[in-house]
Amino acid sequence: TDNLVEPPVPTPVNTAGDLVEAAKRAAGRRAVEDYLSPEFRYVGIGSGSTIKYVVEAIADLPRDVTAKMKFVPTGSQSRALIREAKLTVLAIDDLVLEFNERVPGQQYLDVCFDGADEVDPELNCIKGGGACHYQEKLVAKFSKQFVCVADYRKEVPNLLTSWVGIPIEVQPLATEAVRRELLLLGSKKPFVRSGLPGKAGSIVTDNGNNVIDAPFPPLLLNSQADQMDPSKGLWTVDALASRIKAITGVLEVGVFSGHTGPEALQKGMGGEKPVKV
Ligand code: 5RP
Repeated sequence: TDNLVEPPVPTPVNTAGDLVEAAKRAAGRRAVEDYLSPEFRYVGIGSGSTIKYVVEAIADLPRDVTAKMKFVPTGSQSRALIREAKLTVLAIDDLVLEFNERVPGQQYLDVCFDGADEVDPELNCIKGGGACHYQEKLVAKFSKQFVCVADYRKEVPNLLTSWVGIPIEVQPLATEAVRRELLLLGSKKPFVRSGLPGKAGSIVTDNGNNVIDAPFPPLLLNSQADQMDPSKGLWTVDALASRIKAITGVLEVGVFSGHTGPEALQKGMGGEKPVKV
C-alpha cells in the first residue's frame, strides 16, 4: 500500500523573490512610519507592487487616525487597493473641489507615496512601468511632499542603466508622429508598449492613451550638464524630459525630477526636497 502514497512535493524556496518582497514591505512600512503624520487629511497613493505595502501599513494604523484621512489614487489599481483596505477614496478632481480658495502651488495633498522603476543620486526617477505615470505626476504635483518608496534594486548611478526606456503616454492619433520625433532626439528604437502576452494590440492607459517606451543612453545627472551632447543622444534628465514633453501629442513623460531648484518642476515636488526610503 505504501506504493499508493505519493511523497509530498517539496515547496520550492524562492529566496530571491522572498528577499525582494521583504525589501518592498520594509520600504512601505518605513515610509508610513516616517512620513505619515496623524495630522494629515489628504494622502496620495501611487501605483505598482510596492505601494500595496504602504496601504497595508496605513490600514494597520488605529482606525480613529485613518478615518479622518482621504486617499487620492493614481489610477484604477490604487483605487482598488484603497477600497479593499476600507480607507476613504477621493478622486483627484473631487479633491480640488474640496478647496474653495486658491491653493498656493496647487498643494492640496499633505503627502503622496509612490514607487519608482529607477532612482538616481539626485532622486530623479523613472516611473510608468505600470503605465500610470500621468495620474502619478498629477498627484505628485498636487502634493506638499513626494515620498518615493523604492527597494535596493531601484537605485542606479544614472537613469536608464537597467530600465528599458522612458515611458511616454501618447494620445493614440499622434503615436507614430511622436515615435518619429523620439528617433530624431536620439532614441534607439522607441516602441509602442504592447498588451498582455498573447493579446494583440497596444496597451490602453486609464486615460485611453498609448504608451511609447523610448530607449536612450543612460541619462546624465542634472549636475553633469557640461557633458551633454544631444547629437549622440546624451541628455541630462531635465533637458530630455522637457524636450519630450514639448512634442505635440505627448500627455506625460515618465521622468520625475528630484531637484529642488527654483524651476517649474520644483513646484511639482511641492517645493520640498523629495525623499526616498
Ligand atoms: C507605475 C509606476 C510604479 O510606481 C513603478 O512601476 C514601480 O512599480 P513596482 O513597485 O511594482 O516596482 O510608476 O506607473
